[in-house]
Amino acid sequence: MDKKKEAIEVLKEYEQNHIIKLLDKLDEQQQEELIEQINKIDFHQIMELYNNTKKEIEFKESKIEPLKYLDKAKLSENQRKKFDKLGTEVIKNGQYAVVTMAGGQGTRLGYSGPKGTFKLDVYGKGKYLFEILIDDLKEANQKYNTTIPWYIMTSIENNKETVDFLEKHEYFGYDKNYVTIFTQSEMPLIREDGKLLIGKDYKIKEASDGNGGTYSSLRASGCLADMKEKGIKWVFIGGVDNVLLKMADVTLLGMAIAQDVQIASKSVVKANPQERVGVFCKMNGHPKVIEYAELPTKMAEQRDRNGELKYGESHIMCNLYTIDAIEKISNEILMYHSAHKKNSYIDENGNEIIPEEPNSYKFESFIFDAFEFFDNIAILRGKREDDFAPVKNKEGVDSPKTAKELYEKFWNRQENKQE
Ligand code: UTP
Repeated sequence: MDKKKEAIEVLKEYEQNHIIKLLDKLDEQQQEELIEQINKIDFHQIMELYNNTKKEIEFKESKIEPLKYLDKAKLSENQRKKFDKLGTEVIKNGQYAVVTMAGGQGTRLGYSGPKGTFKLDVYGKGKYLFEILIDDLKEANQKYNTTIPWYIMTSIENNKETVDFLEKHEYFGYDKNYVTIFTQSEMPLIREDGKLLIGKDYKIKEASDGNGGTYSSLRASGCLADMKEKGIKWVFIGGVDNVLLKMADVTLLGMAIAQDVQIASKSVVKANPQERVGVFCKMNGHPKVIEYAELPTKMAEQRDRNGELKYGESHIMCNLYTIDAIEKISNEILMYHSAHKKNSYIDENGNEIIPEEPNSYKFESFIFDAFEFFDNIAILRGKREDDFAPVKNKEGVDSPKTAKELYEKFWNRQENKQE
């Protein structure tokens, strides 16, 4: 069967007739490109994921328990010293690498460029999110007398803009030889009525497949092999949008080494039961993060004897892995979650539709779904005011305004400490 026929058969089977109609309107080159894309898409998987969006998520079969953690503020002096020494050694020996996940769409922020290129209005002249991360890395390099290899994950959509931006700003003074930029894989977007979206380029709209794509993309891009060649033993993976993220926390690293675990994570206490963050728990004996949308209200509100939320350790995208753990996860298949998002598209008459409300689903795998491949995780509870100031929403909570306030307060405290 020729490629066009094959594509049309598939489109018919999965009720994507609007794309068959579109095919007829395209010139030869455009047709070829679209057909090639259609033949690469796993329609069965997409439709299955779409059908799952109609089902309620249940944890009935699962045994859910709170997960143990250590509170950084409550460590004894000896414990803290021991952890810091262990962590420092690894970094000084050049066995530590950092990965920044910068492949997200940043739809809630409503900023059109890659999130790392967003300028936060701090200290009058402002600072880009990438610049803030680089400052943190540069400080660690100075402290531990090394240059930490830095890997940045972008999406197909924002890769060029990210590279151009960092080149233009000369990597804000970071040694370019230690920076590797790689791209992650994609999944098609689907409308609420089960139809795939068409973009302005007359192709099926796809978007990065969630931050869980980090592991397999690290392998596919050759970054994992590169890390191994460099003798890296520990890999930190963090987000691009937390302006208080500590990318080289020796206490976290040392704690992971001391507890002899393969994965570790820093948490902060959930601000309130309704806060839109995932929380740590143990599910059927394995570490797990339950997303805010998936945590039953009753459980979200449960408190322990001390009045603390039972499921209150928030996942803040501050995760640490042995290189073996990354290798192991990169060969596993993670589950997909659906996110209801606003996505513009071209309708059957060629008009661009820009929705005001979420109109489509994006399928994403989450970085933390890999935790369940392990028996244990070491959790270090940090402090919100020291560790967590995300830029997620345009206004209100976790917005540029709140992040600016937290960032400036943190740095004012640091300066006062030094005086
Ligand atoms: P979020 O899940 O908060 O997504 O990403 P986002 O793209 O920043 O924002 P919304 O949901 O569209 O508003 C958390 C981290 O994971 C990265 C993001 O760049 C951010 O650092 N991420 C997310 C990826 O690298 N790839 C993805 O596919 C999704």
